[in-house]
This record gives sequence, C-alpha cells and structure tokens, in this order.
Amino acid sequence: MISEKMTKALNAQIQLEGQASFLYLSMASWCDKEGLEGCTKFMHRQSGEEREHMLKIFEYLSDVDGHALTPAIKAVPHEFDSVQDMFQQVYKHEQKVTASINKLMDIAVKENDYNTHNFLQWYIMEQREEENLMRSLLDKIKLIGKGPMTLYYIDKEVEKINAAELAAEAAAGEA
Ligand code: FEO
Repeated sequence: MISEKMTKALNAQIQLEGQASFLYLSMASWCDKEGLEGCTKFMHRQSGEEREHMLKIFEYLSDVDGHALTPAIKAVPHEFDSVQDMFQQVYKHEQKVTASINKLMDIAVKENDYNTHNFLQWYIMEQREEENLMRSLLDKIKLIGKGPMTLYYIDKEVEKINAAELAAEAAAGEA
C-alpha cells in the first residue's frame, strides 16, 4: 500500500512528465516551421519518450493500488528565440525533472517504501542519460557556432544524434 504523500508526489511527477511531453511537442512544431527536419524528428521522439515516462508512473500507481491523476497541462510556448535557446530550455527542464526525481527518492527512503525506491531507480538512470545527451548536444551546438549558415550543420548533427538514440532504443528492445 502506497502512502498518500508518495501518491501525491508521484502524481506531481506525472504532471511534470506530461508538461515536458507537450513542451517538446511544441518545440517539434516550431522546428518544423523553421525547416529544421532533424530537430523536428528529435523533439517528436523526445515528446513521445516523456509521454511514456508519464504512463509508466500511471501503471506503477495502478500496480500499488494508488490513484493516478490525468494532469492539467499548462500553456506551453510556441515560439523560441533560436535553436540554441530551445535546447538550453530543454536542458534546464531536464535538470528540473532530475531534481524532482531525487525528491521522490527522498520520500521513498524516508518512508521505507522499497517498491517505489526500486521503481524510481529506472528514472534516476534515465535522467542521467537525458542530461548527458542534452549536455553533449549543447556542446556540439556551441562548437558549430552561431549564424544562419550554421543551422544546417546543427540540424544534421541533431538528426545524427536522434538516429543513434533510435538505434539504441531498438537494440534495447531486442535485448
Ligand atoms: Fe522524463 Fe526527460 O524527463
């Protein structure tokens, strides 16, 4: 039986993951409008991943007899100053998610809730990977530099990273 406090905190995480899914969907649409095909694919995949993260918590709460609440999504921005600014926002959002997962883990530890502790391990690993991915992507963007001529190369680089992510996911699915 899961505590009320833990249930409430997991429902807040559902909101955060759902919010990320919609934010990334909006970013995908902006990239598409800007003609950035690689970035569009990347953000669509990220958006789908966040939805999966949200649903995983839904399933977990159902497994432990908790009540998962469908989140209210706040309005997301539809315009971004630049692709650099957009990925910086993604990185910041991922850091916020990591901090939130750490807080969930704190509650699980304090409550001796070993089930939730075990469940959250996956998210801790996932957040490490997500932050790492965004950091390396930002490093590449910085290396390529600014200006309209560089957008093409940034987009190609992001497309390459996206393809590698898809391949890794497919390999993990087969394992
Ligand atoms: Fe599910 Fe990228 O946080």
